[in-house]
Amino acid sequence: MTISEQARVEDRSIPSQPELPPALEAAGVSKAFRAKRSSLQVLDDITLTVNQGEFVSIVGPSGSGKSTLFHIIGGLVKPDAGTVRMNGKDVTGEQGHISYMPQQPALFPWRTIEDNVLLSQEVQGRVDQEARENARYWLDKVGLGGFEKAHPHTLSGGMQQRAAFLRALLSPQELMCLDEPFSALDALTRSDMQRWLLNLWEESRRSVLFITHNIEEALLLSNRIYVFSGRPASVLQVVDVPFPRPRREDIIEHSDFIQLRRELSGWMRDEQQKMQGHRPLK
Ligand SMILES: Nc1ncnc2c1ncn2[C@@H]1O[C@H](COP(=O)(O)OP(=O)(O)O)[C@@H](O)[C@H]1O
Ligand SMILES: [Mg+2]
Repeated sequence: MTISEQARVEDRSIPSQPELPPALEAAGVSKAFRAKRSSLQVLDDITLTVNQGEFVSIVGPSGSGKSTLFHIIGGLVKPDAGTVRMNGKDVTGEQGHISYMPQQPALFPWRTIEDNVLLSQEVQGRVDQEARENARYWLDKVGLGGFEKAHPHTLSGGMQQRAAFLRALLSPQELMCLDEPFSALDALTRSDMQRWLLNLWEESRRSVLFITHNIEEALLLSNRIYVFSGRPASVLQVVDVPFPRPRREDIIEHSDFIQLRRELSGWMRDEQQKMQGHRPLK
């Protein structure tokens, strides 16, 4: 790696800087999907913030509207009310401001792993030799060294996820939105990926908004967690996660961690039951 590439990687290891405008502010976002005779209210007055260099998670029941919020942040869907601001600028309804990893890896089968990883930069017209070297440096770092010229179908699910993740990581946009990136993985691979993402994020300190169903994963990775209600989603709770960085996996055995996990699980269970039309068990 050249000095300038090293600097580019190190540039990102700045701790969170609250004096800068937030990487993302969603304020009062509401959305209903309307058909001819019916209307489905999906988001109800969502307000959330990701400061520069923060890792923020959303947990909430399935079908509550989390992915819809990502589509609004990414400018694919227009909100009925509310605004999306990035770095202090109103970008509501505008595309191209976030780097996005959807739930499925969505790699192009005809492109090599390296070309998949470089896709977002290519779209922005920024692929030169330096970008290729940087991509190879990261591929190597995530255990995909030697697979640069391989095609996605020859890789395991976990490897494809890592490639999709790298594509988001190397996108030039500052804010990464990751929509349940590990949900398709088995427990063991998932725990590997969590450890891997934790280390990587602590080194790169990108601003991240992360959707997950997994409470332990959210507590392990996040600075802050927004708990969404069932549909229409509203912000039920905001939890600041107090554990210092760099975090080690053994924090999951800490009594404060166990206490937080219990609270979050309780809220999630209540919401899930409400959505299924049951009264919460006491
Ligand atoms: N384009 C759309 N048109 C109509 N309904 C939609 C559309 N996108 C999502 N929905 C509905 O909105 C609700 C929330 O979906 P989604 O945001 O995917 O939830 P989550 O990601 O929390 O599981 C679901 O009931 C879904 O069917
Ligand atoms: Mg979803």
